[in-house]
Amino acid sequence: MSQKPPASPSSTDAPLVPHHVAIIMDGNGRWAKSRGLPRTAGHRKGVEVVRDIVKAAQDIGINTLTLFGFSSENWNRPKDEIHDLMKMLRTYLRSETAELHKSGVRLRVIGDRRAFDPDIVELIENAERLTSENTKLTLVMALGYGGRQDILHAATLLADHVYRENRKLTEDEVNALFPQFLMTAGIPDPDLMIRTSGEIRISNFLIWSCAYTEFVFTDILWPDFTKADLESAVADYAKRDRRFGHIKNVTG
Ligand code: IPE
Ligand code: IPE
Ligand code: MG
Repeated sequence: MSQKPPASPSSTDAPLVPHHVAIIMDGNGRWAKSRGLPRTAGHRKGVEVVRDIVKAAQDIGINTLTLFGFSSENWNRPKDEIHDLMKMLRTYLRSETAELHKSGVRLRVIGDRRAFDPDIVELIENAERLTSENTKLTLVMALGYGGRQDILHAATLLADHVYRENRKLTEDEVNALFPQFLMTAGIPDPDLMIRTSGEIRISNFLIWSCAYTEFVFTDILWPDFTKADLESAVADYAKRDRRFGHIKNVTG
């Protein structure tokens, strides 16, 4: 077996600003409930915070920001809530695409698009096309996304590939091919993952690419999350000692 060690940067020191930050934006419902408001009010405030944090990420110098907006499992929520969330997604894409483009943001959406209404899929495709050449920040929206589903989908594509090749692949070949079949193809692994709302779990997010990601869990509910909170998570990250399984600073 030619098991390769996980990829690691040339230096194991974490750079001060993480290249890729992923956020599980959780707690909208509890934020609303604590104010006696319907859950939708929390989602609405949550979308405002998305706008602020996308700007903040650019100010801080983050290159890739992945936001978990809606999971595969979130389709199991009550119809009314899903309807409201889809309405907000439409409004966001309609009102924000031009602004994102103007500020040099490239939008990429990962997740299974088949369950979304066709007009939403069209808005997503148009936004991706319009912003495809932008380089200031890559904003990855995970919508209808599930980490396991992503891996299963990639495994299916790999099986198709093997069928077409009509031969066994070596482990090195699979190692080179498999990441390209994931929806995250071309997106670097997250350096830092933040989850709001006090939950300490990954909830089927980027389970393949988080192998060596640093985690920050905060009790702050997503609608209360600010640029200062993002800066604080980044400062926390800057103090981490990323070793990727290596030994370092051995002084004897
Ligand atoms: C996150 O907030 C947004 C989505 C999952 C769509 P929640 O809606 O999960 O809020 P809580 O966890 O119930 O407070
Ligand atoms: C994870 O939050 C998904 C998003 C933030 C979009 P959930 O609220 O769905 O996760 P669980 O159910 O608490 O694990
Ligand atoms: Mg939640």
